[in-house]
Amino acid sequence: MRENIIAANWKMNHRASELEQFFQQLLAGYKEREGVSVIVAPTAPYLARAVELASPAGIKIAAQNMHFEASGAFTGEISASMVRDTGARYVILGHSERRHVFGENDEMIARKVKAALENKLQPIFCIGELLEQREAGKTESVVTTQLNAVLTTLNAEEMLDVVVAYEPVWAIGTGKTATPAQAEEVHRLVRGIIRGHFGDEVAQRITIQYGGSVKPDNVDELMSAENIDGALVGGASLKAESFLRLINFNAG
Ligand code: 13P
Repeated sequence: MRENIIAANWKMNHRASELEQFFQQLLAGYKEREGVSVIVAPTAPYLARAVELASPAGIKIAAQNMHFEASGAFTGEISASMVRDTGARYVILGHSERRHVFGENDEMIARKVKAALENKLQPIFCIGELLEQREAGKTESVVTTQLNAVLTTLNAEEMLDVVVAYEPVWAIGTGKTATPAQAEEVHRLVRGIIRGHFGDEVAQRITIQYGGSVKPDNVDELMSAENIDGALVGGASLKAESFLRLINFNAG
């Protein structure tokens, strides 16, 4: 069976006191579930503190971004080894806000994924189409291009450490969720592309998360789809109570 992963992407939210309160509430209600991993991605200044709070409960911490270079004159950037020093073991890469607000392209994202893996960080590699691309019938080609840019640079062993997150950009922060059928269609395509590169055994083992307005009232339905193996959650991950409900999804 594939690992299910429920992950919180806090984006640029929650300061120190809010992080303390979140973990206090989360840990009070959290029970580990067989086959379900939980990841929280706070902002970079709080990674080490989050690791301290979350590790005893088996909850993992992710950075939200990093640079592909190992060190040097890159003011404001953080390298993979620096993320690793905080105790974080995952890093979100290629998020749509990085692509569309900060101008990251497929080549940069591929270099980041490689640098993360070289430093023993597991990338949560995000892909997804814009609304106009979906409306123009280009979802398949957009997602294929984004995947190929990264997958062609990896071997099967590296791929097994990658988590893929499908986040249709039109569903992020908009309250519009892809229907389970719409999401499942793309997830099946994604697994097929992974199969094409690395074979069926690898493809069956890769966790493919869905992201985009996942909430307590739609998580069960989404998680019931065959190829949806987790959720990458923004808004509904900020409150411990709501995030706990997502962790306790019921896939039927
Ligand atoms: P929302 O859950 O707020 O739509 O954000 C999704 C997302 O971008 C997670 O990475």
